[in-house]
Amino acid sequence: MANIISASILGAKHTELGNEIEKARCSGADWLHYDVMDGVFVDNISFGVDLLRSVSRATDMFLDVHLMITNPLKFVQPFAAAGADLITFHAESESDIAATIDKIHSLGKKAGLSIKPATPAEAIFPYLDSIDLALVMTVEPGFGGQGFIAETLDKVRAIRRELDRRGLDVHVQVDGGVNAETAPLCSEAGADVLVSGSYLFSAADMATAVKALRF
Ligand code: DX5
Ligand code: ZN
Repeated sequence: MANIISASILGAKHTELGNEIEKARCSGADWLHYDVMDGVFVDNISFGVDLLRSVSRATDMFLDVHLMITNPLKFVQPFAAAGADLITFHAESESDIAATIDKIHSLGKKAGLSIKPATPAEAIFPYLDSIDLALVMTVEPGFGGQGFIAETLDKVRAIRRELDRRGLDVHVQVDGGVNAETAPLCSEAGADVLVSGSYLFSAADMATAVKALRF
């Protein structure tokens, strides 16, 4: 099955956000990836709840919200109410993982669990039966435009292998440094949702760039 392409608006021109979102939709991107950073869990601050509400009103695209924050459990409800369709949080955060997954599901949203490059794939294994998506960060979270860390692909393989062994239908997402060269490696390793920010939004023709990630 073809990859799902999630366009990360961190890589968009923020003063033109509405137009950039429409451009992503018209170019064939499937999902919009919305990065939330609190300046504590990662060394950067990005978008919050109110902007997500505006984005949600401006588009009917599937909203893939990536929480890079210390206490995701506290913010699940407001992000769900603001229009998130999928809420992904980090296994390295301070919130109880099972309770956070349950909270996301209780609000009728899909739940994703993410690991940073240094965290082993096995950290996600106990939760594979209860999540909708596993996100393997292919860069250190916090900034767009970084180089792809190829060693993380072993974790994509390990998670896909374990999902297959258990017969589970769970998405495996990669995020960071995804472009036309690295996308095939991610796919071969077993990822089916590819997040891309700077590669898509800086492309001369975004539709061509989306096609280069979907094969
Ligand atoms: C990084 C973010 C990514 C970022 C990816 O912490 O989670 O979603 O936007 O950007 P690129 O595709 O430029 O690496
Ligand atoms: Zn992200």
